[in-house]
Amino acid sequence: LARGVTEPDLRGRHVVVSAGGTREPLDPVRFLGNRSSGKQGYALARTAAARGARVTLVAANTGLPDPAGVDVVPVGTAVQLREAVVKAAADADAVVMAAAVADFRPAVYAAGKIKKKDGQEPEPIVLVRNPDILAEISADRARPGQVVVGFAAETDDVLANGRTKLARKGCDLLVVNEVGERKTFGAEENEAVVLGADGSETPVPHGPKEALADTVWDLVAERLR
Ligand code: CTP
Ligand code: CA
Repeated sequence: LARGVTEPDLRGRHVVVSAGGTREPLDPVRFLGNRSSGKQGYALARTAAARGARVTLVAANTGLPDPAGVDVVPVGTAVQLREAVVKAAADADAVVMAAAVADFRPAVYAAGKIKKKDGQEPEPIVLVRNPDILAEISADRARPGQVVVGFAAETDDVLANGRTKLARKGCDLLVVNEVGERKTFGAEENEAVVLGADGSETPVPHGPKEALADTVWDLVAERLR
């Protein structure tokens, strides 16, 4: 699909997109978080809506305005994001996990603010694993033929790491980008390779996050046909 040309090739489809970054609270005023801006996920939501899809956007701590014509479900933590994505995925044709989900959360939540104590070193923070939402959605497809897409920011051997991750997660497509200067976090532009479980490799040149989003929907639409 040429950019700027909007064909309603996702009309009648329900797609779920997660965006942003989860925050895992330590106490009422502090959390463990990450640098995901949510911009790529919002671009995915906007482009899917432009192509005729009904869109559920599960948004974790983005602070971005709700895109027009999109159902936005705000969440905070990984556990909340999992609940919202699994619920929305029940009747979805595609699920795209663009959110940066915290791998770990603090083992305990302090109901009151954690205070310093005179002459005492701080307690270490004990972490526990969060659920792997992408792996779970991929393993238990809510409907046959549902297309599941993940995102991975990698360093070093980017493509080899991406292939391993795609196989481990069991998703249909994995958008792999290299993290570095100007790229990914908070940037308006992105550059990536989309790996397919069928062995396909689709390079997406450096450009607006909408262009990457449209390539993802092209590949999803192909798999839905
Ligand atoms: N993801 C998820 N649930 C998690 C962690 C990640 O659904 N608990 C999803 C992300 O939304 C993303 C994909 O999995 O679409 C890849 O995330 P990434 O952090 O690269 O994968 P991990 O398996 O956590 O691997 P790593 O140890 O490299 O962080
Ligand atoms: Ca991770």
